[in-house]
Amino acid sequence: MLNGQSQAWFNRATAIVPGGVNSPARSFQGVGGNPPLVMERGEGAYLFDVDQNRYIDYLAAFGPLVLGHNHPEVVQAVQNAASQGMVLGTPHPNEILLTEELTRAVAGLETVRLTSTGTEAVMSAIRLARAYTNRTRIIKFDGAYHGHSDAVLVKAGSGASTAGAADSLGIPSGVVEDVISLPFNDYEALRRTLADVGEGVACVLAEPIVGNMGIVNPEPGYLEAMAELTHAAGALLIFDEVITAFRFHYGSAAQLLGVIPDLYALGKIIGGGLPQGAYGGRGDVMSKVSPLGGMFQAGTFAGNPVSAAAGLATLSVLERIRPYPTMDRLARELADAILDSARHYRIDASINRAGSGFTLFFGVHGVRDYAGALQADPAVFARFHRLMLEEGVYLAPSRFEAWFVSQAHDAAMIHTTAAAVDRAFYQMSR
Ligand SMILES: Cc1ncc(COP(=O)(O)O)c(C=O)c1O
Repeated sequence: MLNGQSQAWFNRATAIVPGGVNSPARSFQGVGGNPPLVMERGEGAYLFDVDQNRYIDYLAAFGPLVLGHNHPEVVQAVQNAASQGMVLGTPHPNEILLTEELTRAVAGLETVRLTSTGTEAVMSAIRLARAYTNRTRIIKFDGAYHGHSDAVLVKAGSGASTAGAADSLGIPSGVVEDVISLPFNDYEALRRTLADVGEGVACVLAEPIVGNMGIVNPEPGYLEAMAELTHAAGALLIFDEVITAFRFHYGSAAQLLGVIPDLYALGKIIGGGLPQGAYGGRGDVMSKVSPLGGMFQAGTFAGNPVSAAAGLATLSVLERIRPYPTMDRLARELADAILDSARHYRIDASINRAGSGFTLFFGVHGVRDYAGALQADPAVFARFHRLMLEEGVYLAPSRFEAWFVSQAHDAAMIHTTAAAVDRAFYQMSR
């Protein structure tokens, strides 16, 4: 694998951009610290770097690319929208069509406000919950990433996590004091906390299927209990479905799991590859949002016509072709093949899978919370990640992320990937 051009580009970036990346998740610091590869383009399920190496892409840009790169209908919709004006600063049909479709497809999303990012969606949903309940505390779960607004960077995952402290410098202690972070899948911890301080809690914020400590499924009954305890305390339940909505079926994960939150935060897939977020849910709660109500939230680019067109086109393709059973089957086949190879070469590994997304953990089994995910061996993952790049398979550069199978992956790519994993495990076993 030649990567001279990548290195040259990255050297230019490091001279002027902190760490050479515009989002830390793109850095290779968690996988041995080599310079990350600089990609020139994506096509279907492939990424191509500036040295013209081709990779089967399981990053999916951290989730949005459920149709793969550059689906022709999405590209056409973007071109049409762009030719009509990049941003209008007024209401326009595309954003209205997108919000109509979201409310139709997502159970419990009675009304919705578009934002530009998932970070804004979560941040605004929290502010709204505080406005509605007139309370300040929030409960979230260890290792769950909800974007980079101050409150949700308390125990937010793969960074250096310290009890009761923020995962970032620059977060005021007053903000941290209002955030309680609990282990996911721990009914007792939530029950006790809400029994102790529930009357000050504005919201419980969770990913119904966690995507950011690796994929972690909720245990049976846990989300039902979460909803019940939250409501008994007079707080609102917010599901962050920035990754999960439209990933597993045409709608929210909440619908699949049978627990509907008071508020959702959405993002990623609903922008079809362009920046897009949304928050919404119960109409009585959303009526507090400005200019209807007194909870202020805004955005120059919110509901951008080009993003809205990309999101609409993506949803329309998804609804028409319903790729989910095929994506799930391919992901299951790949996960099974990986575990077969691991057994064969005596590599200690396990997989958590939800539909078309899964995480391969080395050295730990049955991961059900962040403490478990932290047991995954970073050095083994770093070696595996490097070997997979050499095999032409692009994985997220972190042991806490998911592999995403998209509609653009096919059986041949899955077989190629399984054979690449087999060879990587062979190397690792020697
Ligand atoms: C669950 C979840 N919530 C929120 C966000 C933040 O979204 P964005 O990066 O669009 O701000 C992310 C991003 O990875 C996410 O995975």
